This record gives sequence, structure tokens and C-alpha cells, in this order.
Amino acid sequence: MSRDFVSFVGRSKVMRGVYHQIQAFASAPIPVLITGESGTGKELAAQALRELAGGGGPFEVTNCAELPETLIDSELFGHVKGAFTGAIKNHHGVVRRADGGVLFLDEIAELPVYSQAKLLRCIETGRFRPVGGERVRQSRFRLVAATNRDLELLVDQGEFREDLRYRLGAATIHMPALRDRGEDVTLLAEFFLRRYVARSSASGPSGFDEDAVAWLMHYDWPGNVRELRNGVETAAAITSGPLITAVVLRDVLHQESTLLSRVPTLEAALAKAERRAIETALRATRGNRERAAQLLHVSPATLYRKLAAMRTEEFERTLDVRNGKKSETARAAKKDGANGHVAKRPRGLDARPAGSEPREPAPRGSV
Ligand SMILES: Nc1ncnc2c1ncn2[C@@H]1O[C@H](COP(=O)(O)OP(=O)(O)OP(=O)(O)O)[C@@H](O)[C@H]1O
Ligand SMILES: [Mg+2]
Repeated sequence: MSRDFVSFVGRSKVMRGVYHQIQAFASAPIPVLITGESGTGKELAAQALRELAGGGGPFEVTNCAELPETLIDSELFGHVKGAFTGAIKNHHGVVRRADGGVLFLDEIAELPVYSQAKLLRCIETGRFRPVGGERVRQSRFRLVAATNRDLELLVDQGEFREDLRYRLGAATIHMPALRDRGEDVTLLAEFFLRRYVARSSASGPSGFDEDAVAWLMHYDWPGNVRELRNGVETAAAITSGPLITAVVLRDVLHQESTLLSRVPTLEAALAKAERRAIETALRATRGNRERAAQLLHVSPATLYRKLAAMRTEEFERTLDVRNGKKSETARAAKKDGANGHVAKRPRGLDARPAGSEPREPAPRGSV
């Protein structure tokens, strides 16, 4: 028997602790915060809470990180026709749709501070107002929020409201990483394999050989249960023999973790794109910054500020290389295609020593 608790598979001590908490919080009408690495089953835990609380009512899911900041309030609280350009009809937000059920807000740390205030008011009073609307509406729902970030730290940095963190923190469930769940790894692997084979038309492997089991137990699982599920399904699809082997698992999961390690942060990717655009504009205008700023649709002040930041970055790399220090910065530069040495100065950037103050004042200003 591998089905232990609602739709969870696993019976390790840490997971039994989780089941106990879910059970305890299910009937209390308070918000619940679920923390844990990606792929550990946070959404599954939210569904289990709902099921144990009676299972009735809607289950609305919104990922705060996937919404542009300008649309978050409308997605949560809805809007009325004409509230903004493009609001061609009234729209019910998830808060209203979740009335009588559960609202699962994934990555709640990404919610802008002003929306946090609105949400807190709404969970405390059940009242909210759609964007652009006059009328106050009512909705009673159970808020279940998830995050993988340290909310306390974000409160210190002024990015998360303390009152909301306090409200959410009263009932917290931490989903343990798969690497800390011992034998659950093999139970889950067998479960995903059986499910995959049952769903596919062709017959598939019936289990894992001895080396494969040992390998499953020693792997680190950075993507947790989701990575295990994907890995087992891919391994089953390419195995023609009766058992999945360690070699196949290693190949399949190595590919996935190589891919994982290659994902840049969004911030790094955007910074790189910005640097390229600036270099192109300066090359096109033979170094004329005012013209370049025009082409880039930013103010000259913004361009000066960005150029100054680019020079500082370049200066740091120069120091790292001179000191023979393979620091994070130098490694990052290499990864970015800067050959591990001083990044080539784009034509148009002036020839002063890197890192010195820009000739022009870098006035504060924005786009
Ligand atoms: N203990 C478990 N038993 C069975 N299936 C599980 C278990 N934990 C997770 N899963 C499955 O693994 C997948 C990932 O789980 P889920 O989406 O709940 O993770 P998450 O923590 O919300 O991930 P993310 O942070 O990336 O949103 C889902 O398909 C889920 O059904
Ligand atoms: Mg999730």
C-alpha cells in the first residue's frame, strides 16, 4: 500500500508530520501558508486541505509570479467594464470565484505590497472592491498561500507586509525536500511507474533493477517529486526491457539537471538583453549618447546611469582577472560570453579607465 494520505504517496516520518498538520489545519477556518522547494507538493497539500475540510466549493489557483503587476488586482478582485483600456466587460476575479471554497495563491511573495494590503483586508472582512468598481462585494474563502521565499527576510527588506505575514504564519506547513524523505523515493518511483504503465497503451517495464533503486536513493533531486515523476515517465518510455536500469535513469535525470543548471535568472537574462541593446544603439550612432538614448526610448539620464553601472561591473571583472581570482563575477562573465577576461568595450563607450566616474554627471532620472 503506497497511498498513505489523501492523494499523497509516502510514509516517511517527515511526511507523517505533514499529514498530521494538514489534518489539524483542515477544519480551522484560518489561512494556511505552505513553504517548500519547487516540486515538493505544495499544491497537492492545498488540495488535501480542501478535501479534508469537506471537499465542497471551488478550488481556485493563481500563481502571483505569472501575472504582470498591472493585472494582479484585476485577476484577484476582478474589474468593472471601462476600469482601464481593454476592460471591455465586467470580470470576476479569483477572490469572487473562490467564494465558499479555497483560493490557492502560489508564490505569494511576488504579490505587490499594495495588493497585499487589499488581500489582507479581504481575508479579514470578506469584503473587497473590484478594480474601478463602486460597490463593495463579499466573498468568504479559505486562503492557502505558498512560497519558497523567506517571508521574514522580505518583511525586513520592506517587500512583504508584516501584518499579512503574521496572519499567514499562524498555520504553516513545510513540505520537506524529496532528498530528506528516505524510502519515500522508491515508493513514489514505483507509484509513478505503475501509473504511467496503466495509462499507456503499450506494456512497459514492471520495476527498477537493483542498481536503479540504489541510484534513486543516492540522487539529490533538486526538482523534487516533479523531477522524479518526469524522470520515471521518460525512463519508462525509453525502456524496452522488463526493468528500468540505473544507466537509463542517470541519462534521463542528468539531462534534466543539466537543463536546470542552465536556466539563467530572469534578472540576468534581462540585464544581458539590455546591455546588448545599449551596445547596438551606441554602435549605430557612433557613440552619440543623446541619439542612442532617443533610439532606445529612454532619457539621456537613464542611459548615463546604465552606462555607469556597466562600467562598474566591467571594473569588478578587471580586478578579478588581475588578482587571478576566479570569483563568481568572473565566472558569471565567462558564462555570459565575455571570454573570462575583461569584456570587450563596445565601440562608443568611452576609453577612460574602467570604473572611473562617468564624465557626465549621472543624474537621477527614470525612463
Ligand atoms: N507525495 C506525493 N505523492 C504523489 N504525487 C506527488 C507528491 N508530491 C508531489 N506530487 C506530484 O508532483 C507534482 C508536483 O507537485 P506540486 O505541483 O504540488 O508541487 P509544488 O510544490 O506546488 O511545485 P511548484 O513550487 O513548482 O509550484 C504534481 O504532479 C503532484 O501531483
Ligand atoms: Mg505549485
